[in-house]
Amino acid sequence: MKKLSIILFLFISSAFRLTAEEGMLIPSLVSAFENDMQAMGMKLSAEEIYSVNNSSLKDAILHFGGGCTAELVSKQGLLLTNHHCGYSQIQSHSSIENDYLKYGFWAKNKGEEKKNPGLTASRVVRIQDVTATVLQGTQGLSQSDKLLKMQSNITALIEDAIRGNQYSADIKPFNYGNDFYMIVKETFRDIRLVGTPPNSIGKFGGDTDNWIWPRHTGDFSVFRVYANSNNEPSDINDSNQPYAPLHFLPVSLKNRVPGEFTMVYGFPGTTEQHLSSENLRFIMDQERPARIKMRDKSLSVINAGMRSSDLTRIQYASKQARIANAWKKWIGQIGGLKTVDAIQIKLDREKEYNKRAASKSAWQDKYGNVIEDMNELVIKYKGADFGYSMAIEYLYIGPELFKRARTINTFLSNYEKYKESNSLDAEIEKQIKGANAFFKNYDENIDKKIFQLLTEEYIKQVGDGPLPERFKNVDIKSLADKVYANSILTNEVRFIKFLSKLKSKSFSKLKKKDIGFMVWSESDDNFRKNIIPDIRVYKGTMDQMLKLYVAGKVEMFPEINHWPDANSSMRITYGKLEGSAPHDGMKYTNHTTIDGVIAKNNSDNPDYDLLPRMRELAKDKDYGDYAQDGELWVCFTGSNHTTGGNSGSPVIDGEGNLMGLNFDRSWESTMSDFMFDASRCRNISVDIRYVLWVMDRYANAKHLVDEMTIVRDAK
Ligand code: ARG
Ligand code: ASP
Repeated sequence: MKKLSIILFLFISSAFRLTAEEGMLIPSLVSAFENDMQAMGMKLSAEEIYSVNNSSLKDAILHFGGGCTAELVSKQGLLLTNHHCGYSQIQSHSSIENDYLKYGFWAKNKGEEKKNPGLTASRVVRIQDVTATVLQGTQGLSQSDKLLKMQSNITALIEDAIRGNQYSADIKPFNYGNDFYMIVKETFRDIRLVGTPPNSIGKFGGDTDNWIWPRHTGDFSVFRVYANSNNEPSDINDSNQPYAPLHFLPVSLKNRVPGEFTMVYGFPGTTEQHLSSENLRFIMDQERPARIKMRDKSLSVINAGMRSSDLTRIQYASKQARIANAWKKWIGQIGGLKTVDAIQIKLDREKEYNKRAASKSAWQDKYGNVIEDMNELVIKYKGADFGYSMAIEYLYIGPELFKRARTINTFLSNYEKYKESNSLDAEIEKQIKGANAFFKNYDENIDKKIFQLLTEEYIKQVGDGPLPERFKNVDIKSLADKVYANSILTNEVRFIKFLSKLKSKSFSKLKKKDIGFMVWSESDDNFRKNIIPDIRVYKGTMDQMLKLYVAGKVEMFPEINHWPDANSSMRITYGKLEGSAPHDGMKYTNHTTIDGVIAKNNSDNPDYDLLPRMRELAKDKDYGDYAQDGELWVCFTGSNHTTGGNSGSPVIDGEGNLMGLNFDRSWESTMSDFMFDASRCRNISVDIRYVLWVMDRYANAKHLVDEMTIVRDAK
């Protein structure tokens, strides 16, 4: 007994200590965690969470549009996700006359539901460990032959999986290629918009509250999955029927109990838990601060423009949100990582790893150098890595003239091909349409200021790294004047005129004469020739080292639960409904209420604007069944390890009922992409009772609530 507790103590004091809440589990492996989950209050069995042969929770969880998560909540394919996940569809159906962004939209019947070309939602049919088959026959081969053999194994596996059915399949590396899993999917292609609250609910708090707790956002929208008469995926078609799911989630109106079990089931995008100490140091001290500075500059221009003109406010709304979302997340990440002294934690873990390796000569031979190698590699390629990030910020997030240049470059590179196939006129027409859409949300004065500030900052940041000749010893302001006075890329009239007079030699003229295009192509060339090749070598070598590092971690630390980094595949994470105390002298409670919505609205920040109806309903306190102890909960937090892509994921209680929709994390938590800290990392969800209250009382769409299966506390 004594010995056991000493061993336990050793394990618990290990630098690699994991808490139950950390990690994103592969659903097909969930049975290994069943006991732990049940000890935390889960009543379900592993088989009820994930099963290949019977319907299970997994069948209710869909990958929405490839980047978010959504869940089925009725036998007629009713689907819930976040408002910010359905935002572009909501926007696409909105106009001045039908301003769904401002006033919301609710289909009164199925005939009024709105079709969304291009939108998909995928169900995972099964997740299968195929590591052995992928690696079959690769022993002893050279690296390149090995890759060829693996590729042919993969092709064969996929062909087998999709023969004679309506599925598609994907094989993804996990743990940097230590493992391979095949994910077989069924992808629905007719997903219709059923309803959305107005921005003043679905995006309440806007940028002010983004990544922030306390939060009061009703971040949900409602869709419906349609299928053909065999209940199988189909292209959009009037004859399609609501999809009858294998499973849908019952919705819980039960009182929430602080500390109760919560599980988030969804499609997290990316985490980087295994970065070495030098890598984390590079990100925290150099890379992120520089990227933040680049975005400070562009946001300063965009925000000022949006404040001074309504047109600019609308034109730049979604671009601003995109730039600001990551910018704000990064600031939070660095803050969190510094507060917990993440670099010291990494150094301690590295020491522990090396100590374990040294305890056995076979381990020492295999794993004894990997940490040092990783750290050395980071130092060797720091410059290239930094140049890469800066080029991404400059060329892909920076002035939009570069986006225009890329588009026209691709088009003109195919000019002769289009001409030969007689499709040139149609292609030009497409270009004109694309340009109209682009310039509709473009202001050349704003772009010019961004160009000037970002070019200056880019040159300053990259310093003695590779830069195009043109940028050396030149006054950027006069360069900006020249570009924006002359380039076809920065002005709709000039651009359309160029397209309408297109000839075979137009491309070479553009390359030689258009100063805007030249700035782009020289920068792009510099990126491709001087940065990308190094980055390929760096990332390839690093991935090999990470593969070895993870293999060592799994082999040498069998006492801890290992989890593979997020890779947009389906995962489960579990924790508790709980608040946190991330700052000295300050405590975050576990939920917010509608009173907080009204309190925020009383300030004069336009991010807290409401339509009058919300204030009226809140005053009446008519919460019906949706209240708990007289309060209407709006959002709650939990200790579930989530990341981007988990938006829209269901938060599921111990009995498999839907409690809420995950949509964000608190600022102090965003570090969880690199390091999870159970004392501070919290995911933020909108309570399903608020979602239903909005549908029922605010929107008079009770018929949707009636479609769902509601569970209540026993009276
Ligand atoms: N922070 C949330 C997640 O990364 C996005 C919330 C969208 N809302 C906003 N104001 N941008 O995606
Ligand atoms: N808001 C994120 C999403 O859209 C979720 C997160 O990063 O916590 O997926």
